[in-house]
This record gives sequence, C-alpha cells and structure tokens, in this order.
Amino acid sequence: MYHFLFCLFLLNLFNVCINAQQNYSGNSALDCGNIDESAFLYTCNGQRPHCQAFLIYKAEPPFNSVPSISNLTSSSQAAVASINNVTEDATFPTGKEVIVPVTCFCLGRYYQANATFHVSSTYGIYYTIATEAYQGLTTCSSLKRANPQSEYGLVLGTELKVPLRCACPTRDQTESETKYLLTYSVNKEDTVAGISDRFNVSQKSINGANGLEEKQTIFPSTTILIPLPTAPSSSQTIIQKDQPLDSPQPFQKHPKSHRSKRKLYEEIGIAAACFVLVLIIILFFTFMFNKRKDGVLQSDSERNKNHVLPAAELRIEIARFDQGLRVFTFKEIKKATRNFSSKNRISGSVYSGGFRGKILAVKRMRRDVSNQIHLLKNINHFNLIKLQGVCENDGVFYLVFKYMKKGSLRDWLRNESTDETGSWMRRIQIALDVANGLYYLHSFTKPAYVHGDIKSSNVLLNSGLRAKIANFSLARAAVNEKSSVVFTSWVSGTRGYLAPEFVETGQVTSKIDVFAFGVVLLELITGKYTIIAQGRREILLSEIIVSIMEKDGAEAELNSFIDPRLKCDKWTEIALRMAQLSVSCLTEEPTKRPSMEEVVSVLSKIRVDCKY
Ligand SMILES: *[C@@H]1O[C@H](CO)[C@@H](O)[C@H](O)[C@H]1NC(C)=O
Ligand SMILES: *[C@@H]1O[C@H](CO)[C@@H](O)[C@H](O)[C@H]1NC(C)=O
Ligand SMILES: *[C@@H]1O[C@H](CO)[C@@H](O)[C@H](O)[C@H]1NC(C)=O
Ligand SMILES: *[C@@H]1O[C@H](CO)[C@@H](O)[C@H](O)[C@H]1NC(C)=O
Ligand SMILES: *[C@@H]1O[C@H](CO)[C@@H](O)[C@H](O)[C@H]1NC(C)=O
Repeated sequence: MYHFLFCLFLLNLFNVCINAQQNYSGNSALDCGNIDESAFLYTCNGQRPHCQAFLIYKAEPPFNSVPSISNLTSSSQAAVASINNVTEDATFPTGKEVIVPVTCFCLGRYYQANATFHVSSTYGIYYTIATEAYQGLTTCSSLKRANPQSEYGLVLGTELKVPLRCACPTRDQTESETKYLLTYSVNKEDTVAGISDRFNVSQKSINGANGLEEKQTIFPSTTILIPLPTAPSSSQTIIQKDQPLDSPQPFQKHPKSHRSKRKLYEEIGIAAACFVLVLIIILFFTFMFNKRKDGVLQSDSERNKNHVLPAAELRIEIARFDQGLRVFTFKEIKKATRNFSSKNRISGSVYSGGFRGKILAVKRMRRDVSNQIHLLKNINHFNLIKLQGVCENDGVFYLVFKYMKKGSLRDWLRNESTDETGSWMRRIQIALDVANGLYYLHSFTKPAYVHGDIKSSNVLLNSGLRAKIANFSLARAAVNEKSSVVFTSWVSGTRGYLAPEFVETGQVTSKIDVFAFGVVLLELITGKYTIIAQGRREILLSEIIVSIMEKDGAEAELNSFIDPRLKCDKWTEIALRMAQLSVSCLTEEPTKRPSMEEVVSVLSKIRVDCKY
C-alpha cells in the first residue's frame, strides 16, 4: 500500500516535471553557434501536440503592413487584419505591436509555427534574419538546423524554412485557465511587471511559464511566453519607441527613476532622429563615392548597410579612398627619432618620433615590405593601424604609423592598476574593436586578406583605449582551397595563437585569424598569458579553457580563471558568454568557427546587455 502511494507520489512528481514550464534561455538564444538545446525553440511539453498561438511582431519597414507581415510569418492576411482591428492592406506605424495568429504544432521535440523567408540583401545571414527580420521570434541555431545551406551558402532569393517560436499550454496552465500562449519579443525597457500589467496577467504566471526567477534579467530580442486566458486584442498593443540597438545611448547612464517616461521617449525620439539624419547623410556620401568609384565596392557596401553600426565605422567607409601616402626623407626620420635614440624606442624596432609637433611611430624593417605597404595603403579602418607614410634608405624600410599612446593590449593587461583594466565594458569594447578590424580585413578588402599574426601584442590602444590592429608583416591574401604547395617557411605566427589546421597544412584562410582572436578573447577574460607554466610543463591557456567549458557546471571553474580585477558577481553571465564565444572561435574544425561578422554581432549584443 505504501509502495503504491509512493509510486503515485513519484508519478505525480514526474507529471509536474513534464508539465513544467519552458525555461527562459536568456541570451543564449541569440548565439548562432548554439548547442544549448533549451535556447532553440520551445519544447513540446504542452497538453496538446498543436494549438492556436500568437506572436507579437513590431512593425518596422519593410515589414510594416498587413501584407508584408503576413508574408513574413506565413499567416493569413485576413486573420492578421481582423485581430488587429485594421483593414487587409493597412500599414502600421513603426514600432506598433502587431498580433500574429499562428498554428503551433509539435515537430520532433519542439513546437514551431512554419514560415518561409526569402533571403534579401538586407537580411542575408542567419543571424540578421533571426534577430532583425524576425526580431528573435526564431533563433539563429534553429534556422541553421531547418535549412541545408551553410551560413555562407545563402544567396539572394533562397527560400528558407523558418520555425517560429511558439508553444501550447501545459496541463497546469490549462487548469489555471490559460488558453493561449503569446510569444513576445522583449524590448529594451521591458520588465516582467510592465508586461504583466499590459496583458492583464499575473507576474507569477509569466514567471511560471518561462521558468523565470523573481527579478531575473530578460534580454532584448529574446522571447518570453505570456499565458493568456483569452485571445489578445489590439487594445493591449502599443507602439514601442525602441531605439536602434547600436546607436549611442547616453540616457542609459542615469537611473531610470529620475526621469519620466515621457521625457525618456522624447530623448529617444531625438536620439533616433539624429541617428537617422547622420545615417542618411553618410549613406548619401557613400553612395556618391561608390557611384564614382564604380563596381568593386558596390556589393560590399550593399551588404554593409545592415551593419551600419556606430558612426565612427561609417566615417571610415568614406575615408577609405586613398588620400595618398606621404613619403618621408631619411633625414626627416632621423631627426624625428633623434637618430633612433634609446629614449625614443617604444619596443623592438619601433620608435616614436615628433613630426612637426605630431607624435608618430616609426617601424624599421629590413625586409622588402612593398607588399605590406600596398596592403596598408589601401586599407582605412578605425580599427586597423593607419600607415601615415614610408621611407626607404639603403634597402631598409621605415613605416610611419599613428602613435598609440597606451601601447599594446598585452602591456595594458599586465598593468597592475585596476582603474582602467577593471572594467568589463572596456574589455568588451576592445574585443569588439579587434573583431571589427578583422571583419573589415576579411570582408571588405579585395582580395580578402588574412592578418596571420593576431595576438595581444599586435593590438594597440589609443589614449581613449580604443583598439587598432597592427603589424601586417604576415598578412596575405586568403585562399579558400587547400593548396598543394608546402608552406614550411610560411608557417609563421606566434605559439599559443596558431590554428591547428594552419600548423598542419599551412592552409591560409580567414579562420586562422578567428582562432587567434578566440585566444585574444581569453586573454581579455582571464588577463593571463597564452602559455601557462604548470610545473615543468607548459600548457596553452586555450586548451585549459576549452576543456573547462566542455564540462557541466563550467561556470564555477571558469570563475577561478576570470581576471580577479574584473570579478563582480553580476558579471558571471557576461564572462560565460564571452568564454562561449571564445570557445566557438577555437573550434578545431575551421569551417565550424564563426565568421568575424558573426563574432561582431555576438559581441555587439554582449556590449548592449553589459550596459544594463
Ligand atoms: C527547466 O529546468 C529544470 C531545472 O533545470 C528542468 O528540470 C526542466 O526539465 C526544464 N524544463 C524544460 C521544459 O526544459
Ligand atoms: C512573399 O514575398 C516573396 C518575395 O517578396 C514572394 O516571392 C512570395 O511569394 C510571397 N509569399 C506569399 C505567401 O505571399
Ligand atoms: C476597432 O476600431 C474601431 C474604429 O477604428 C473602433 O471603434 C473599435 O472599438 C475597435 N475595436 C476594438 C475591439 O478595439
Ligand atoms: C512545417 O515544416 C516542416 C519542415 O520544416 C514539415 O515537416 C511540416 O510538415 C510542416 N508543417 C506544416 C503544418 O506545414
Ligand atoms: C483583468 O483580469 C481580471 C481577471 O483576472 C478581470 O476581472 C479584469 O476585468 C481584467 N481587466 C481588464 C482591463 O481586462
């Protein structure tokens, strides 16, 4: 009898578990290389295998009308029109929440609603399709799984299968009168309390439906489920005055409570308007330049439009057109560096020098560097060190660069004082700077270049602690296929940063930079050297961290590796995401490593969340 009761109890417990809510997967839903299943779609643990469900989509051109939103979500135009109380050809103001009714069903382990998407020039990679076109209503990793194309294989017009995130109520939810689940993509200012007010449901039921703890952070562009007793109505939807994610956010520095919502909206409005204005001006100029230059860069800048990140980046695009290189005389160089005096020496063969009151860095090189000059002369990006001029004397070359006040990242990380080095935000910005520089080098130069020697000592910091990549002596044009040539003398670079396939075959692809970048990320997270002595053995930092991250409960162990200058409880989450990104860059198989474009996307997200 007791046995029977005990079994019943177990059975009940089991049922509770089965009927447990969906777990909020936080930010990992945004991660393209995601292996975490819970961050994928919602699991099939509802009472029924299919049901009516709803999504909220925020109108945003080009998806801002009933026809375009129904097309995007493959839902019926009539149904969208009727539930939003508008006509079938209506256009919505930007930011207006539009209710989309979908049929949700269980496919394998996950619920989904089927939609199709045609790859466009604005939305050309899985990440932007998931987080921008679909606003997080689908995930990058589920798109990748549903479609055979690799992330590089998406061509204009390709039809993709899009599994939209939805779910059916569990038995517990049905018992507490929940009829529908609404998939809601979180906005910047959203809190569970605010959402529960608007949809007139209890915070407890929202927390329950998403496995959220009290006061747990919810991230923009991720979704939560809202359990509803009746179908949602247009009276519950509002116009979200959301800011573009990457524009400057001065107002965030102040506590929200000090300002009224209205004021906040006004500011957001002004900021957004300024941003748009700057954007228009810049796009206009870029367009004019491209028109003149013709061809080559056109498709790149087309692609680049959806990455219009900070204005600094755009200025670079404009400035990229060669303004000519200054040729210095040897006399000038000697005078500036006080005849290469030891006082002027920065490190190795690099000297500082005063040129007409301006401090520049001079690098002496004994090799023929015409290739390097050719490359450097043609690149112009905020995050790549700028070549100011050259000089040749007796077969020795002198390259003149901008002087970087704070020296190399390696030296900076060695700095004991925590004033500067103790900030996560700074370190994320440095990572993002390096990533942006590499992204440019890999995607916007022709031919595409590989840096080949990314390491913390080749990352220089200016007085504002913004990073620039330096030392292009190993840079070369990327190849895509295996070359039969043996590159013995080419397998150069720095131990601790070398990608395994490069060491084995000498194959040069952009993925060797991605690998090395992964190592630099680890240095930023841990503050440690890339090679660690353990007794008499030397171990690579990357190997240690990769093996930690493969284990369950990596968090605790990772914690002991985080740079103590950075430690602070609330940042464990950020550290973990940075470590995950790094580990994906360190994947053994080069094709499985993310592109720098994806890395930039992920880091931008981390940076935004870090501002919270
Ligand atoms: C949510 O997390 C709990 C504990 O981590 C787990 O037991 C449960 O199965 C998860 N639920 C779903 C739907 O994944
Ligand atoms: C949606 O739009 C695409 C391209 O604009 C078009 O090819 C497709 O047929 C449309 N789908 C529906 C269901 O109208
Ligand atoms: C629908 O819109 C009309 C006017 O446009 C309004 O009178 C009516 O109350 C609205 N219905 C709902 C359910 O909001
Ligand atoms: C949805 O798409 C999947 C393939 O991605 C297919 O197997 C399934 O039958 C589709 N379901 C419906 C209802 O169209
Ligand atoms: C909110 O929900 C309660 C029941 O939970 C209901 O009595 C009340 O009328 C609802 N309020 C609105 C404005 O719909």
